[in-house]
Amino acid sequence: MTDAAGEVPTDPFRHPAFMAAPGQLADWRLVLVYDAARSTGLFEALPATPADAAARSGLAPVAVRATLDALCDAGVLQAGDDGTVGPGPNWPSSAADVQLHQHATTLRRWATSLEARLRGEELPGRGVFQLKEWLQSMAVHAASEADPVAEAALGALQPARRNAADLTALDLGGGHGRYAAALAARGVHVVMQDRADVVAVVEQEGWLAGTGVELVAGDFHEQLPDGPFDIVLAVGVMHTMGPELAASLLARVGTRLRPGGVLLIRTMLRRGSPTASLFAVQMTVAGLGGDTHRLEDYQAWSAAAGLGAPQVTPAGNGSMLLAVKP
Ligand SMILES: C[S@@+](CC[C@H](N)C(=O)[O-])C[C@H]1O[C@@H](n2cnc3c(N)ncnc32)[C@H](O)[C@@H]1O
Repeated sequence: MTDAAGEVPTDPFRHPAFMAAPGQLADWRLVLVYDAARSTGLFEALPATPADAAARSGLAPVAVRATLDALCDAGVLQAGDDGTVGPGPNWPSSAADVQLHQHATTLRRWATSLEARLRGEELPGRGVFQLKEWLQSMAVHAASEADPVAEAALGALQPARRNAADLTALDLGGGHGRYAAALAARGVHVVMQDRADVVAVVEQEGWLAGTGVELVAGDFHEQLPDGPFDIVLAVGVMHTMGPELAASLLARVGTRLRPGGVLLIRTMLRRGSPTASLFAVQMTVAGLGGDTHRLEDYQAWSAAAGLGAPQVTPAGNGSMLLAVKP
């Protein structure tokens, strides 16, 4: 599909995730149109003319035509000379497809629950529906982040320990397992802890098969593996809880680290960036007790946990904190 000047339209989904920087966010209308076509099975009826696609899918012909036209004009689909519609130059990759679905789900959630949250009304928290897709969308993001995170954690160890043959790590809330796998690929024995339903998905899907990562199912607020560990990862985890739980979790992490061991946190610091501030709203909307925390909070919790002051560096659209146990 080309526009009137013969150019391919700019890819509307080049930033498919909902946590894009302000000004980069994909057009919400196209995100919802794409997701509706995906969810109703319309894409499975393609390639076809709009009329044939409506007949094949059992969907409403006028709505099908409008949906396909919008996606064709964005270059997501394209129509041949005979009117047959199929994938266009901006058809999303399978990774972007998962992120777009997560994005659309988030849009619906913000649209229907933000005002209620502000008023303090009771609303159920986000459930574990579509758990596998949620994990997959985070894995897309982690694909490019896991190696740098592993390198940063290993690089923060004392030189004498860095190349030890018996390095151990704990990946807290490891989810899909990409970060755990990146450390394991570097010869580290990794224990990954997550909720039982998440661990069950990882096992069913075989995402960590052959990596040597040891899976532990259980709430990290109730129990932590004994260790001791050289590295503890808390990537995308600390903002899933309020300050009291964060302080007590880090205090217990401190007891599991070896002297010279490293705690690596990836998170959004409160007011760390405009994206981080919007992320705090997302935590409110999710309604599961999560929140962003201030750097001062992490400094105080690290000190109380017997760790050195965290070193902070920008990482992706958030921050990385590295704290070493003396
Ligand atoms: C936002 S995801 C981050 C996943 C992964 N570390 C990443 O950055 O892509 C947070 C993870 O923490 C896990 N989690 C949250 N609360 C937990 C708890 N109390 N005990 C164990 N895991 C928990 C969730 O199930 C989820 O996998």
